[in-house]
Amino acid sequence: MIRVSKKIREMESSPTLEISALAAELKAAGHSVVAFAAGQPDFGTPGHICDAAFQAVRDGFTGYTATAGLPELRSAVAEVYSERLGLALTPSNVVVTVGAKNALGVFFQASLDPGDEVVVPAPYWVSYPTMVRSASARPVIVECPADAGYLLSADALAGSVTPRTRAVIVNSPSNPTGSVYSRDEMSALVDRALELGIAVLSDEIYEDLLFDGAGHVSPLSLHPDRLDDFAVVTGVSKTYAMTGWRIGWLIGSPELVKAMAKIVGQTTSGPATFAQKAAVAALKGDRGFLDGWIEQYRARRDVMIEGISRIEGMSPHVPRGAFYLWVDASPLLERLLPDGSPVGSSKALARYFLEEEHVATVPGSAFGAEGHLRLSFATAMQDVEEGVARLARAVERLAAP
Ligand SMILES: Cc1ncc(COP(=O)(O)O)c(C=O)c1O
Repeated sequence: MIRVSKKIREMESSPTLEISALAAELKAAGHSVVAFAAGQPDFGTPGHICDAAFQAVRDGFTGYTATAGLPELRSAVAEVYSERLGLALTPSNVVVTVGAKNALGVFFQASLDPGDEVVVPAPYWVSYPTMVRSASARPVIVECPADAGYLLSADALAGSVTPRTRAVIVNSPSNPTGSVYSRDEMSALVDRALELGIAVLSDEIYEDLLFDGAGHVSPLSLHPDRLDDFAVVTGVSKTYAMTGWRIGWLIGSPELVKAMAKIVGQTTSGPATFAQKAAVAALKGDRGFLDGWIEQYRARRDVMIEGISRIEGMSPHVPRGAFYLWVDASPLLERLLPDGSPVGSSKALARYFLEEEHVATVPGSAFGAEGHLRLSFATAMQDVEEGVARLARAVERLAAP
């Protein structure tokens, strides 16, 4: 009989996908579910990008690509990001992967040895610690408090570094908090990382989704002459509403890119060729649609913040990027569920909201921050209004201890 390995038995499943699956079950059973758990835009991929994929299939782009990616896509990434990051990149600095998630996983496999450590600021994106562990390395979780905007300070980084530390992960705009590092904050952090001799892995998948005049600062853009010390991961998933196309990439030194391409060549052989062609169209095409999308995200964010702020026991953090509202719901953990038992955990609270009012949220424990919830506003305004009203009703029914 095939036995599941110890490593995988001990691996946590992706909690965001788990909640979405439960919500899908309720939906299939005929309930009207408000999905605040999704980690993807509710918009469709723009037509010109879809057309490029159809055309690519017709033109015969249906075979394997080179393992590091379609030369045309690597060139397009090098061209666009040379401009954005302020350095001269070539295709040799780019490896294309099956979404940004795969770029992160392959990066860890390529750059970590057993026992190495990676600093992971919390709240963190759910997959970072698991991915680091999968590379037989150790995630060192550093809590970033609300009063510091959930950002990692240079001093907190220095306090968590050991001789085994290889890298620190920076994710701005952040999933789950929506926090965005200013130029000064990023500079202070990155300068310290370089002084300490550790690499910076920057996950910039939400780089284009910014509000209130916030600007995106890539750590690499602050030290364009130190490419060996940086890895930038991003892709088309969030900006262009292309989560299902599975195209991401990493920008780094040619040595790192070659090491990662070796892994890609022995595992996935890279993403679908016509999807890579579509990504070229995304990068090179008109981005006029984006302003309208961002305006819609912002409007929903504001309505969600207003509604959630009125619920006793819930305090939202104002996100300046991405499409998530990070809510401190810790006072609610002491309240009592209908069966008289205390709520106790963010997971139990999320389950209560889903079962009682059919609102899907993601518990903070998934992001290393108990007592919180993550609510996605990548959903129609009508759903935002309805979902917030349902949450308010559900909270009213939680009895005081
Ligand atoms: C912070 C962060 N990094 C990476 C990813 C993965 O992106 P992709 O869908 O391109 O694999 C996500 C997706 O939710 C994310 O939120």
